[in-house]
Amino acid sequence: MWDYTDKVMDHFRHPRNVGFIKDADGVGEVGSMACGDALRLMFKLDEQGRIEDVKFQTFGCGSAIASASALTEMLRGKTLEEAEKLTNQDIAEFLGGLPEQKMHCSVLGREALEAAIENYRNGTIGQVQLEGRVVCICFGVTEEKIERAIRENGLSTVDQVTNYTKAGGGCGGCKDEIAQILERINGHLAVKESQPEVSKPKRKLTNIQKIQLIQETIDREIRPELKKDGGDVELVDVDGDKVILSLRGSCVECRVAQFTLKTLVEPKLKSFVSEDLVVVEAK
Ligand code: FES
Repeated sequence: MWDYTDKVMDHFRHPRNVGFIKDADGVGEVGSMACGDALRLMFKLDEQGRIEDVKFQTFGCGSAIASASALTEMLRGKTLEEAEKLTNQDIAEFLGGLPEQKMHCSVLGREALEAAIENYRNGTIGQVQLEGRVVCICFGVTEEKIERAIRENGLSTVDQVTNYTKAGGGCGGCKDEIAQILERINGHLAVKESQPEVSKPKRKLTNIQKIQLIQETIDREIRPELKKDGGDVELVDVDGDKVILSLRGSCVECRVAQFTLKTLVEPKLKSFVSEDLVVVEAK
């Protein structure tokens, strides 16, 4: 059982600033509202350019709720120049600390804030996009995000990287590469933890086996996650390594549907069927 500070428990049980700002100046989304662990942050500026109202919505654990609540408290009254200096460590410190296994929740808050500020300044869609090479396909974590977490938080082990970014927390297939990134940045060999077995089949699949395995993976690993939020997905076709899917239910209207395809659906299919698969949405 993790040790939570009184302040974490207070912000979890009585989260501040939960809700929606209809005419927000900046909106930032990170994660996927369909597959959990997602945060939407909105702010409104006053005439002096200070954050006068800030609200959040999240699907996530108690630490994610507490981190988002703390972040909104910290943001009120700040200019955007002051706000963008906040780090994930500042969020954790405001809460009197977070269990290391939950530090990724503070990173989620920092990312949503950055996306919201970017949305205000440049009119971007305010969603954290995957930029750069993806190292952890299970959780869609890029090399850039891993490097930043290592540098900003002084990380030295693969387990710490998992705690701060989730990379390595699924099949474990990316742990060697995370260790190499740690070595490159820290200049010495990282501590490597034991790796669980990768469940992906090693044999070459026939087309029929591949399609069956894709369908099984959708039914067992993907559909239940999407259905939790009223969404669904159907397999339309498989063309070589291209898996053509059609979104259903709430996923059809969801603004982060593409993100869900790339961070939930594709990593699962790569993990359970073949690294070579690419997911595209049916037109
Ligand atoms: S845990 Fe990173 S690729 Fe599976």
